[in-house]
Amino acid sequence: MSAPTFDVEKIRADFPILHQDVSGQPLVYLDNAATTQKPNAVIDAISDYYRTDNSNVHRGAHALADRATVKFEAVRTKVANFLNAPDAKQIIWTRGTTESINLVAASWGKANLKMGDRILVSAMEHHSNIVPWQLIAQATGAVVEVIPVDATGTINILAFDAMLDARVKMVAVGHVSNAMGTINPIEKIITLAHAVGARVLIDGAQAVSHWAVDVQKLNCDFYAFSAHKLFGPTGLGVLYGKRDLLESMPPYQGGGEMIETVSFAGTTFNQLPYKFEAGTPDIAGVIGFGAAIDYLNNLDREAAVAHEQALLAYAEEKAHATDGITLIGIAVHKTSVMSFMLEGAHPADVGVLLDKQGVAVRTGNHCAQPIMDQFGIPGTVRASFSFYNTFAEVDRLFIAIEKAKTFLV
Ligand code: ALA
Repeated sequence: MSAPTFDVEKIRADFPILHQDVSGQPLVYLDNAATTQKPNAVIDAISDYYRTDNSNVHRGAHALADRATVKFEAVRTKVANFLNAPDAKQIIWTRGTTESINLVAASWGKANLKMGDRILVSAMEHHSNIVPWQLIAQATGAVVEVIPVDATGTINILAFDAMLDARVKMVAVGHVSNAMGTINPIEKIITLAHAVGARVLIDGAQAVSHWAVDVQKLNCDFYAFSAHKLFGPTGLGVLYGKRDLLESMPPYQGGGEMIETVSFAGTTFNQLPYKFEAGTPDIAGVIGFGAAIDYLNNLDREAAVAHEQALLAYAEEKAHATDGITLIGIAVHKTSVMSFMLEGAHPADVGVLLDKQGVAVRTGNHCAQPIMDQFGIPGTVRASFSFYNTFAEVDRLFIAIEKAKTFLV
């Protein structure tokens, strides 16, 4: 089923958190779309940093500050290489995907949007790729419009094409839906949007953990993601942007680091990337994230994603054979996310009963309420698989679902 070179047990040994009991049973962690677990290398890099190098970056005139700065900036270059960005200056550290999108909406939006301009987002977006656009639309008089999504959870690309005109200034779409796993045809979306002069922001939070992203090949204007969904620490994110756009955008937050000179007569701003990095950054997080990228670079990522896809296929086959399960999101191209409803049961109740059997899933609207409203459901139960999950864990999920049914249905 999985590629023969892919040794799941060896990989699981790198993730200490997986080896514990929950509710008296071995943990089955199937909430990877919410956050992925961290390998020892990441945990060690963070504690080593605090044990040996902790200092503030870019400021100090001493050895620790120099070491911290060199390590911190080396990770920026690592991320640039990971995304095939032309220059490390185009990698901005943020608190996460949410802050990356807010930065673009607030800064780019303030400088570029005016009354009557159109911002297009898809119906399946996460709230963090909807609300920042609503806020800047309110402030500028622009309007947010919705790219339709069909009953399978697939963007209607013809409808999108028909929406495009010269008033569309921004198209903001997820690379992958967090609620359903749909992989969106972003190459096509970017090409079509650029043809009318619109900019494109891709929310990559759910994509980067599965395959390599090449921002130059995609030709997107902005790409946002979080470290914690990429086996790195929480509270850290990345914004990639095209250089001319980032150069022309006003600062997002004011404070230390982002300035060149400050006086009460007027302040001038620092160069990229520091212009957008006010305040002391998450230095330990960045260094831990560097270890996560090294870990991924040493992994056979094609085999890893093939394993995840095999887990999804196995789980969906079992779902089809289980009475009362309806899959939500059945697009042709999907990442390893299985969202479902259990007939006669509220998703939250199913989640509790799975947890009581050691199986961790996410339930609810997954911060994607509009698409849940479109489907007329309160939410789903979502099992999301990573490369460290096993077929035996999928079996455990379905045993737990059958048991939950005896209580609920
Ligand atoms: N956006 C994350 C999820 O889908 C938290 O679970």
